[in-house]
Amino acid sequence: MYKIAVLPGDGIGAEIVPEAVKALKAIASRFGHEFQFTEALVGGAAYDVKGHPLPDETLELCQQSDAVLLGAIGGPKWDNLPVELRPEVGALLPLRKELALFANLRPCMLFPGLLHASTLKEEVITGVDFLVIRELTGGLYFGEKSREKTADGGQKATDMLTYSTYEIERIVRFAYQAAQKRRKKLCSVDKANVIETSRLWRETVTDLSKEYPDVETTHMYVDNCSMQLIRNPRQFDVIVTENTFGDILTDEASMLTGSIGMLPSASIGGEVGLYEPSHGSAPDIAGQKKANPLATILSAAMMLRFSFDLEEEARVIEQAVTEVLEAGYRTPDLMEEGKKLLNTVQMGDMVADKILGLR
Ligand code: IPM
Ligand code: MG
Repeated sequence: MYKIAVLPGDGIGAEIVPEAVKALKAIASRFGHEFQFTEALVGGAAYDVKGHPLPDETLELCQQSDAVLLGAIGGPKWDNLPVELRPEVGALLPLRKELALFANLRPCMLFPGLLHASTLKEEVITGVDFLVIRELTGGLYFGEKSREKTADGGQKATDMLTYSTYEIERIVRFAYQAAQKRRKKLCSVDKANVIETSRLWRETVTDLSKEYPDVETTHMYVDNCSMQLIRNPRQFDVIVTENTFGDILTDEASMLTGSIGMLPSASIGGEVGLYEPSHGSAPDIAGQKKANPLATILSAAMMLRFSFDLEEEARVIEQAVTEVLEAGYRTPDLMEEGKKLLNTVQMGDMVADKILGLR
C-alpha cells in the first residue's frame, strides 16, 4: 500500500489535483495496487482556515506519507501578507526544505499531437526531449535576506546567494546519473563569467566530469541557454542548473511543449517525493474548469516512477495522455481549429478511461 498526501492548494490546484487522483485510481484498479489518499490544506487555503500556509499537521502528513501530490499555491488574495505568511515563502519553500527535496526534475518533451500548439516553428520543436534538473533547496531562494534604510531616504535590499561544494556535487552527481540513463549529454548552466557561486559551480562540474567519462559534459552561460532553448532545443539532453536559473529556464522550456499546462515536475532527494505541475495557481482562470490537468496527471506518472518504482504504470499514464492528445482532445490552453474542446474534468475522465481501456 502506498500513502499519498494530497495537497490541492489554491486557484486551479483544487481543480487539477482531483484529475490526477482519478488517473492514479485508474492505475490502482488496473494493476491491483492500493493507494491511500489523505487530503490536507496548504497555501492560501490553509492560511484562511488555520492562520498559516503550512500548518504543522500538513507537514507531518507529508513526512508520514510515501509521496506528496501538490496542485499549486498562491494568489492575489494573499500577496500582501507579511512575507513569511505568503503561500510561496511560507509553505512551498519550507516544504521543499523540510522534505530535503534538493532535486527538481522537469522533463520537457513534445507530445506529437501538439506540434502546432507551440508558438515556435514545427522544425524547431520536432523531437524535443530533454530534462531540466534544477537545484531546489539552495541559492537565492534560501539565502539570508535583509532590508535597511539608506542615507538618501531610500532602502537597500539584499538576498544572499550561496552554494557549497557539497550542494553542487549532490545535484550534479544526480544529473550525471540521469544523463547515463538517457542520451549521455549533460549541459551545466551557470553565469561563471560574473557570479562567484557560478564559478564554484563550474569548477565542481569540471572536477566531477572526470568520474563520468561516458557522459559528454558541456557548460553554458544562462543567458546563452535561454537563447539556445528556442533556437535549437534538440541539442539538449540533460540540463543541470541552480535554483533561480532553473526556475526561469523551465518556464521558457514549457513553451516548447505548447503550453505550461503540459510540464510536470518531480522534487526528490529526501525520503518523500513531491510531485506538482511546473505552473502556478492561475487565479485568472480558477474555478472555471478551464485549467489543463495534464501537467498534474503527468506529475502523478513521475510519482509512480520515482517514488514507487512503478515504471510500467508510469508509462501507461504517459501513453494515455499521448493517445488522448492524438485523438484531438484539447483543453482551452491547447485549443486549435478542428480539435475537440474539453474542460478540466472531461480531460481527466478521458485520461482515466484510456488508462482503464474504456476508450
Ligand atoms: C516553481 C514556482 C515557484 C518557484 C514559486 C511559486 C515560488 O515558480 O515551482 O517554478 O519559484 O520555485
Ligand atoms: Mg517557476
